[in-house]
Amino acid sequence: LPRACVMNILAELRSRFEPVLSEWTDDPSSVIEMLKASQDAKFGDYQANFAMPLAARIPDLKPRDLATQIVEKVDLSDFCEPLEVAGPGFINIRLKQDWLNTQTQNLVRDERLGVIPAESPQKVVVDFSAPNVAKPMHVGHLRSTVIGDANYRVLKFLGHDVVGDNHIGDWGTQFGMIIFGYKHFLNEAAFAEAPVTELARLYRLVNQLSDYHATQTKIPRQQAEIEQLAEKLKTRESSADLTNKKVQKEIKKLKSDLGERKSELQEMQEKQALLEQNEDLHSKAVSFPDIARQAREETARLHAGDADNLALWKQFLPQCLDAIQTVYDRLDIHFDMSLGESYYNPMLADVVSDLKARGLAEESQGAICVFIEGFKSPFMIQKQDGAFTYATTDLATIKYRVEELKADRVLYVVDSRQSEHFQLLFATVKEWGYSNLELQHVSFGSVLGENKRPLKTRAGDNVGLESLLDESIQRAYAIIAENDDVKPEGPELSEDKRQEIAKIIGLGGIKYADLKHNRDSDYMFDWDKMLSYHGDTATYMQYAYARVCGIFRKGQIDRIALRDQQVSLNLVDASERALALQINRYSEILESVAIEARPNYLTNYLFELAKIFSTFFNDCPVLKAETEQVKTSRLLLCDLTARTVEHGLSLLGIKTCERM
Ligand code: ARG
Repeated sequence: LPRACVMNILAELRSRFEPVLSEWTDDPSSVIEMLKASQDAKFGDYQANFAMPLAARIPDLKPRDLATQIVEKVDLSDFCEPLEVAGPGFINIRLKQDWLNTQTQNLVRDERLGVIPAESPQKVVVDFSAPNVAKPMHVGHLRSTVIGDANYRVLKFLGHDVVGDNHIGDWGTQFGMIIFGYKHFLNEAAFAEAPVTELARLYRLVNQLSDYHATQTKIPRQQAEIEQLAEKLKTRESSADLTNKKVQKEIKKLKSDLGERKSELQEMQEKQALLEQNEDLHSKAVSFPDIARQAREETARLHAGDADNLALWKQFLPQCLDAIQTVYDRLDIHFDMSLGESYYNPMLADVVSDLKARGLAEESQGAICVFIEGFKSPFMIQKQDGAFTYATTDLATIKYRVEELKADRVLYVVDSRQSEHFQLLFATVKEWGYSNLELQHVSFGSVLGENKRPLKTRAGDNVGLESLLDESIQRAYAIIAENDDVKPEGPELSEDKRQEIAKIIGLGGIKYADLKHNRDSDYMFDWDKMLSYHGDTATYMQYAYARVCGIFRKGQIDRIALRDQQVSLNLVDASERALALQINRYSEILESVAIEARPNYLTNYLFELAKIFSTFFNDCPVLKAETEQVKTSRLLLCDLTARTVEHGLSLLGIKTCERM
């Protein structure tokens, strides 16, 4: 490989160190990740810290001596300066200036920005979004959709054969609910006019009514719990040794539990009161005390092939799918297939009999279960009443993905509350015989409101996704108009342009805010932070992009033509070098995203890139550079930055605009 082609610098460095480390450990891969980009240029461009843990395992070897020995054995002279050992045994790695120059120069005409397609592409199924249709999409669907889409795009760009599959919930209990609603509460005129809206209303209504009854039984239980807790607290507070730390701690804990229970109770009571105030709703609730069971029975009839219910399902489904499609169109989300749970229904009986035949599933209290060692609960694949489950469908889906789609890897972008389901699923699948398949639960936390509880409307409903998008675009519009109005040369955006940009910024802001968090954690939804021009936002990155476009406009320079000029890039200033290095790290970042399915690695990277660009832009005059040669070189850096930002954002499903 000619060294000017090494694009994933981190991977190259690691692959050079790894064989050397095997002299001191049987498992160099366990420490190789301690070679990383350094946080501070003082310590080089990359830094390796593995001498410390390795030396700790070997008697009489000082980490610093080990680092020195490692350094003597690794040859990086083709692209790095001589390695440096610092402090207790850090190895500092600095790329050669000429090499970085040439590398960066090569990027100028590389459409892929230095990202080499995977040597052995995999067939990867990304299972994402997967709403249960028949209810409108709400904020809870945002994360799977956005995180899934970003992973899909990154894997595809890296050269994998990716199938985006929307595993729609089109066969579940929600259909029983709307069928019941349709049979008892239909507003025919409304249905004729806007069927999906009417179905959504019916769903919500049946849900509200059954929720009312469920809460009605929950309230006394909650009150009893509160009484118990209060009683306990009283006893503790009258205890003789109140100065005891342990007692104090207990009291504190009891108080906070009590507070939480009370506020939950209050929420429940408010919700009930709200419904009771509505005479129509209340009288319906009274007339249908058993509505939850009745709705379940409608689902059971549908699954059993009841002609009426099946006909209703066939009538509703396309309408429901149209409704979610509107949201996907707005978000620019595409799937390669959307088979949905119903597709697998005919295969479920075979899955169960196959697992039984192999001795993997057995009867337990009338149900059929797979018992996996180490798990508290079994994986239930058929209920007592004969119904198949979510688990059965997922097993059938895996069989299909392996046998029909020839998948090597499947990513399930599903919230963390389902993690036990996926652990059981993956363990079952392994025993079932699909052991070469790589399965990954790409789990994520919830979107929280200001009160740190899952984001809800004031009335306690889920926040509809469409209205969320509308609001974001509106807010973005206001910000853009405000900024445009105060431009020194006067406003420059037409009304149409403002609206177009508002869409790009509004949607980008929502997606970015979701993607930038470590997906495992919950995050708090915050409009102001999300759309700010400053800080870790899409807007900030979009602004960096627009700024570069502005430079080219002002200098009347054609970006494409510039790339074709045979000018050599020359990194002189420290901030030029830092910028070039960051641009060159694009491929290593994308690979790390692909391995762990973590788009936040890419958002972090872009944020850093935009910040480094900002420093460069303050330090280094571009259009007013001292010589024509320096000017061109800096323009090339600007162009590369803009392309990397634009491309990186596009992999997150976020667009850019040339002015804003
Ligand atoms: N529809 C499911 C839900 O809303 C998510 C499905 C995820 N995909 C899967 N293969 N289980 O909970």
